[in-house]
Amino acid sequence: MRILISIISTLLLFQISYAQLPSLIPQPVEMKAGKATENFTLVNGSTVVFTSDNSLKPSADFLINHLKKYYNIDLKTSNIADGNRKNAISFVLDKTVNQYPEQYVMEVFSKTTTIRSASAVGIFYGVQTLIQLLPPSAKPFPLQFQAVSITDYPRFAYRGMHLDVSRHFFDVSFVKKYIDYLAMHKLNYFHWHLTDDHGWRIEIKKHPKLTAIGAWRDGTIIGLYPGTGNDGIRYGGYYTQEEVKEVIRYAAERYITIIPEIEMPGHSMAVLAAYPELSTTPKLPKKVAETWGIFNKFNNVLLPSEQTFSFLEEVLTEVMELFPSPYIHIGGDECSKIWWKQSAFSQQLIKEKGLKNETGLQSYFIHRIEKFVNSKGKTIIGWDEILDGGLAPNAVVMSWRGEKGGIAAAKQKHKVIMTPENFMYFNHAQFLKDDSLTAAKFLPLANVYNYEPVPAELSPAEGKYIWGAQGNLWSEYISNPAKAEYMLFPRLDALSEVLWSPKTKRNFNNFQQRLKQQLKRYDQMGIKYSKRYWEN
Ligand code: ACM
Repeated sequence: MRILISIISTLLLFQISYAQLPSLIPQPVEMKAGKATENFTLVNGSTVVFTSDNSLKPSADFLINHLKKYYNIDLKTSNIADGNRKNAISFVLDKTVNQYPEQYVMEVFSKTTTIRSASAVGIFYGVQTLIQLLPPSAKPFPLQFQAVSITDYPRFAYRGMHLDVSRHFFDVSFVKKYIDYLAMHKLNYFHWHLTDDHGWRIEIKKHPKLTAIGAWRDGTIIGLYPGTGNDGIRYGGYYTQEEVKEVIRYAAERYITIIPEIEMPGHSMAVLAAYPELSTTPKLPKKVAETWGIFNKFNNVLLPSEQTFSFLEEVLTEVMELFPSPYIHIGGDECSKIWWKQSAFSQQLIKEKGLKNETGLQSYFIHRIEKFVNSKGKTIIGWDEILDGGLAPNAVVMSWRGEKGGIAAAKQKHKVIMTPENFMYFNHAQFLKDDSLTAAKFLPLANVYNYEPVPAELSPAEGKYIWGAQGNLWSEYISNPAKAEYMLFPRLDALSEVLWSPKTKRNFNNFQQRLKQQLKRYDQMGIKYSKRYWEN
């Protein structure tokens, strides 16, 4: 009987403490909840304390702005850092909290809240967690943070999300919002897909026709490919270099590196509309593409001429001067080789260079670009087609046609970002019968959640080359911010746990419970997430 009572009371205790655990996404590594009476209460006049180290200012600003925006609370900052200030939130740079990169520890307890980390980025992630300890509704003072003690750090070093701004253009204000969404989920790379057949979106001073001509198309296919016609409406837009710098700054304050993508040698119709002389048929006029898909017969590709390489080097020089990212994405996917097959110049080059065929030519193309990018101290990332014909020596591979490319690259000791389309393409439908126009493939929340980026085929040593994973949002059928949010949420939540949380802590049922609270936060923030995510 006594044993039974003890079992029941243990179960009850577990229940109580379990019920008190805050609903955090991504799930932290270790967490212990305090009692409700130990909650930290923010009173009028509470101070955010950051150390005199200026590197913590972005974290303080982020918290202050959040509290102002969603709770109408004005917090002050101070540079007095004793780490134990009463009624204060303290950020402490602490060299001892360095067992893992980006690690932080956090104590939220009665009169003090302290976030410690060896790095400013760790403090920033602590702030993201701290925000989730608040009730997700606008409350006047006193505002309570749930009492908790947390030790946390990410599983993967590369935690990425992509946005295609070529098929549809998203303005700077939405791109900043998008970056905030990534930061909230402790992601650290934003892959900005800036160029494609359907529009060139970044100002290049040396080649102004890229935006004067390449940023605009005369119309857009109506409906799902093959569509029901063309709307005939001129469509486009681009970012000026000043705007790009502003977005880079904004992202840097959120510890997000922006990786710009400049597509080559395929997906180049916007370039070729502006500069047809860089195509395999220089005399034929070209248009920025208006219909989705890769149309071998219609979408010409870059001619591997010296003129093209000089042009690309000039473009990449401006891009590399703008973006501090050590990584530049050069595309490399879906290049229609038929154009090189029919081009006397390309065939001659294949012979001259002793290349095997057009695949060898693609490899030659990418190797040359890599050499140039490396000469500026930067590294290329390419879609997994860059493996075809031989991988460039220092390239990072983004594996999208399944995991095969990623596995091959990891075995060759190259860094890999996993983004297989069956698990990581958030432009695919979330339900079997989606109520909106989407790419005709299906990616339910559970499949994202249960994705494991390190393939079982890899040995532990090879597995270390899996740098992380990334969700992609291709925008053929995403023409506005509300649709982008609908496609992104809540799959971004699932992705954040794949990338951040320990593998052993991932549990879809538990995640779904925590998601309920997260969706209330989204309501508070006005995020237009998909409300039917559970229907599969
Ligand atoms: C891709 O989806 N073409 C990378």
